[in-house]
Amino acid sequence: MLRRSLLAVIAAPVLSAMALLAPAGAQAQGAYPNRTITVVVPFAAGGPTDTVTRLVAESMSRDLGQTVVVENVGGAGGTLGAARVAQARPDGYYLLLHHIGMGTTPSLYRKLSYDAVGGFEPVAMVTEVPMTIIGRKNLPANNLQELVALVRQERQKLNYANAGIGAASHLCGLLFQKAVDAPMTTVPYRGTGPAMTDLIGGTVDLMCDQTTNTTEHIRAGAVKVFAVTTPERLASLPEVPTAKEAGLPGMDVTIWHALYAPKGTPAEVVNRLSRAVQAALRDEKVVARFADLGTAPVTQEQATPAATRAFWQADIAKWRPVIEAAGEYAD
Ligand code: MLT
Repeated sequence: MLRRSLLAVIAAPVLSAMALLAPAGAQAQGAYPNRTITVVVPFAAGGPTDTVTRLVAESMSRDLGQTVVVENVGGAGGTLGAARVAQARPDGYYLLLHHIGMGTTPSLYRKLSYDAVGGFEPVAMVTEVPMTIIGRKNLPANNLQELVALVRQERQKLNYANAGIGAASHLCGLLFQKAVDAPMTTVPYRGTGPAMTDLIGGTVDLMCDQTTNTTEHIRAGAVKVFAVTTPERLASLPEVPTAKEAGLPGMDVTIWHALYAPKGTPAEVVNRLSRAVQAALRDEKVVARFADLGTAPVTQEQATPAATRAFWQADIAKWRPVIEAAGEYAD
């Protein structure tokens, strides 16, 4: 239902309790931080958000002098993990690293157990990641033109994996179906990490997913790649055509990621975390790994609370009319 509506709209030029249990002894004592910090990834382990988060968390832990652990809370298009953080104690020890879903969820989901806009303090943007259109390796199509013909012929007999409504893979899949002008069958997962396992195993046909999850599988020949969703080819996958040059204009999609703390987290804690993200984004190891996976850190100026808030609010404002025009929601 939602898919049908968004298909129409995306034709536009674009496109617990556990948190309440916050880590024991949550009252900060002494200088922040003085104990382990947890970053929630609202998708399954092994996927693109998880990959970005683990790289940044490891580097942040060196800057902060404390362990930064990652907790995967997948499900419901990222809203389960986001809810845990929004409802957590605002002390800087329980954080969220989320993507474009922070821009779409406030409009897509009208019934949430948390405040999808007012429940968070933005800390720092991290990266923007291109996407790739990929398929199982024995799919009977060897380039984007052949894939388009196959989708138009097989339609709902073909299925595509995604990480739930509002997930990056969901939005990109809708855009692809709109561009091809043929529907397919959706198979939702708790994240594109497990979806990738099934794609490699051949139990699903297609996926549109971030290069941070697809690059190595493409290079290994474990999946077929048909296009990247950027205006220019990627240095990390130079042989892969853009969707535009392969015949599908309008598929210009990148997925932004940022770190958030619960609303009410003291400004000095938010600023300390922001500086730690900035240090991670200057870390040569992080920069090199990002480049290998087809992405790059945002600028130091973008990785501030104010710039992140402005970007996030602009993204909410961009998506709200699109989703409201569709008139159908995830709830
Ligand atoms: C993930 O980490 O699994 C992805 O970011 C899911 C998605 O949004 O497609």
